[in-house]
Amino acid sequence: MKVMKIYSEFARVYHEMYQCIFNYEEDFKLYHKHLSKLKSCKILEIGCGSGNLAKFFLENKYDYTGLDISKEMIELAKEMVPEGNFVRGDMRDLELDGKFEAVIVTGRTFTHMTTNHDVMFALNSIHEILQKEGWLLFDNFNAYKIFTGFKEEMTHKATYEGRKYSRKSNTSFDLEHGWTWKWEAEYKVEDGKEKQTFDDEIMLRAFTEDELRLFLTINGFKIKEMIIENNAILTIAQKINEKKTNAQKLYFKQKLNKVSEI
Ligand SMILES: C[S@@+](CC[C@H](N)C(=O)[O-])C[C@H]1O[C@@H](n2cnc3c(N)ncnc32)[C@H](O)[C@@H]1O
Repeated sequence: MKVMKIYSEFARVYHEMYQCIFNYEEDFKLYHKHLSKLKSCKILEIGCGSGNLAKFFLENKYDYTGLDISKEMIELAKEMVPEGNFVRGDMRDLELDGKFEAVIVTGRTFTHMTTNHDVMFALNSIHEILQKEGWLLFDNFNAYKIFTGFKEEMTHKATYEGRKYSRKSNTSFDLEHGWTWKWEAEYKVEDGKEKQTFDDEIMLRAFTEDELRLFLTINGFKIKEMIIENNAILTIAQKINEKKTNAQKLYFKQKLNKVSEI
């Protein structure tokens, strides 16, 4: 499977740049607040990347497993958080021992589920590895915000231990499979006298609240809460039945196997 360059050969660039883009401690506090209320301690983080949240979960005595599709991200996570439990896997086809009290999909990772097939496979797979009445917490781009305020160009700059990073992004409407857009990025890295550039591109997807509600219902989840903040929607949903819903049974009987490449 093809994985974006920024998650594979340039995983370290992602790791260092995103220390300035995301506030991982604040993100952890938000998940911790909800997970504590839901009394969930055995958790799986999907899209754990280089393990930025893992260290906080471990410090706070969670029974934590991190999963990511990228080999390089998993290697980096093991280097950054040696005491962590990290596995390589695809959320559309999870093969893990044991069940979890909660699954969290962090840092907008679900944005890579660009086709309806991806979404169906991912939610079905997450449903299977959750314990009875287990919880799913995942954040997504809010389609309404993204597409009413569509930005064609964006620039991000970051400095980490003297290394300077900049990224120019160009985005264009796609809308082929849902609320999707194409994202093309040009990265520049300056480390002293050494300069490096590389390009990357990907399709991304946002969701409306109603789309999330429908996908979750079809896949056997009940929504507890949707928290809308700027361009994101954090959804908290509970697995409500062990058995598959009729729609799930029908869909998977047809053996559709059309997952996209990230
Ligand atoms: C935007 S990054 C977020 C990383 C991390 N949560 C953070 O906040 O820094 C998305 C991550 O999801 C991973 N990913 C993308 N598709 C995936 C899939 N189908 N299954 C598991 N991980 C996936 C990527 O390799 C990448 O590390």
